[in-house]
Amino acid sequence: MFLGLQVEQLSTAFFTPREQFHAVSNVSFNLNKGEVLGLVGESACGKSITALSLLRLLPPGARIVSGRVHLNGTDLLALNQHEMRNLRGKGLACIFQDPHTALNPVRSIGVQFIETLKDRLGLNRDEAVAMAVNMLDRLGLPVPEKVMRQYPFQLSGGMKQRVIIALALCLQPEILIADEPTTALDVTVQAQVLWELNRLKKELGAGILLISHNMGVIAGMADRVAVMYGGTIVESGPVKSVFTRPAHPYTRGLLGSIPRLDQKNKRLCFIRGQPPGLAELNRLKEGCVFSPRCDLATAHCCNHPVPSVQVSSPGEEIHTAACHRVTAGGVASIYTCCREDHE
Ligand SMILES: Nc1ncnc2c1ncn2[C@@H]1O[C@H](COP(=O)(O)OP(=O)(O)OP(=O)(O)O)[C@@H](O)[C@H]1O
Ligand SMILES: [Mg+2]
Repeated sequence: MFLGLQVEQLSTAFFTPREQFHAVSNVSFNLNKGEVLGLVGESACGKSITALSLLRLLPPGARIVSGRVHLNGTDLLALNQHEMRNLRGKGLACIFQDPHTALNPVRSIGVQFIETLKDRLGLNRDEAVAMAVNMLDRLGLPVPEKVMRQYPFQLSGGMKQRVIIALALCLQPEILIADEPTTALDVTVQAQVLWELNRLKKELGAGILLISHNMGVIAGMADRVAVMYGGTIVESGPVKSVFTRPAHPYTRGLLGSIPRLDQKNKRLCFIRGQPPGLAELNRLKEGCVFSPRCDLATAHCCNHPVPSVQVSSPGEEIHTAACHRVTAGGVASIYTCCREDHE
C-alpha cells in the first residue's frame, strides 16, 4: 500500500446552469510521507482549487468531476462528510492561503486553539494551552500568552498567518497542505516558519504539499516540484533537475524572470501575455493551454492533445514535461537562453 497522498487525474470545475469551467484538469501526483512536494505557478493557475479539492472544501458552485484521491490507501472521495471531517486535522491538515478568513472572527485565538486541540487531539484545556503557547513562541510571536487572549481583528496579517500555521503544526498531521504559508511574512519570520515545516517533515515524517509562487522557497524546501499552468501540471520532477534543466517553455520563463545579482545588465526574461481565465481555458482544451503565450508553439501545439514527455534519462528519478516541443531526454535541442544584453 502507498503511504502518503496519491492524486490521479483529478479534475474540478465550476458549474453554471449552462456550462462548466475546469479550474483543475487531470492533475496527478504522489506525495510520499517525509517528503516536500512544491506546487508552483502564476496566480489563478489552479493551485488553491487543487488544495481545496483534496480537502473536499470547495467553494459553492465548484465540484470534483473526476479523478481519485487516496490517503494511505483510503479513497477520500468515497468518504461521507462525517468521515472526511474526522480525517481533517490529524490526517490531512491545511494552512489556508487567506489568513483573514481562516480564523473565526468572534472567538479569541486561545479559544480556537483549545477547541481544536481538544476535539482533534483529545487534550485537556491546560495541555492545549501549553502546546499552543509553545508553538506560537517557536514561530516568533512575541508574548504568546497575550496573543491567546486576543481576537483575530487585533492581530496583523502576518501574525494571523503564524497563528494558522501554529494551529496546523500542533495537529502534527500526516499530510500538510501549506498554501502560500509565508507570503505575508518578512524573511526572518519566513525562515522560522520554514524551519518548523522542515521539523514536521523530518521528525514526524509528514508529507508536505508546499504551494508557493516563490521559487526560492521551493528550491530551498522541496524535494520534488510540480509546475502548474492553466489548471494542469506542465512539468514535474526532482527539484534539482527541474531547476537546472527546465524543459517546459513555461518553467523556463518562470525561472528566467527571477532577478539575479550576477546578471544585472541583462534584461529579465518575461512571459508575454496573461494566464488564461476559466472561459479561455474552455476554448483551449483541444491543445496546449500555454500555446497562446509560447514562442515555440506551432499550429500542431494548438490543436493536439499534449504528450507527457520523459526528460530524465533511464535510471534517473522521473522528470516529465507536457509539451509537444520537448523530445525525450532532449531539453537542450530547444533550450535557448532567454536573457539578453541590455545594449
Ligand atoms: N470561488 C470562486 N468562484 C469562481 N471562480 C473561482 C473561485 N475561486 C477560484 N476561482 C477561479 O479558479 C481558477 C483557479 O484559482 P486558484 O484560486 O486555484 O488560483 P491559484 O493558483 O491558487 O492563484 P493564487 O496564486 O493567486 O492564489 C481561477 O481562474 C479563479 O478565478
Ligand atoms: Mg491560491
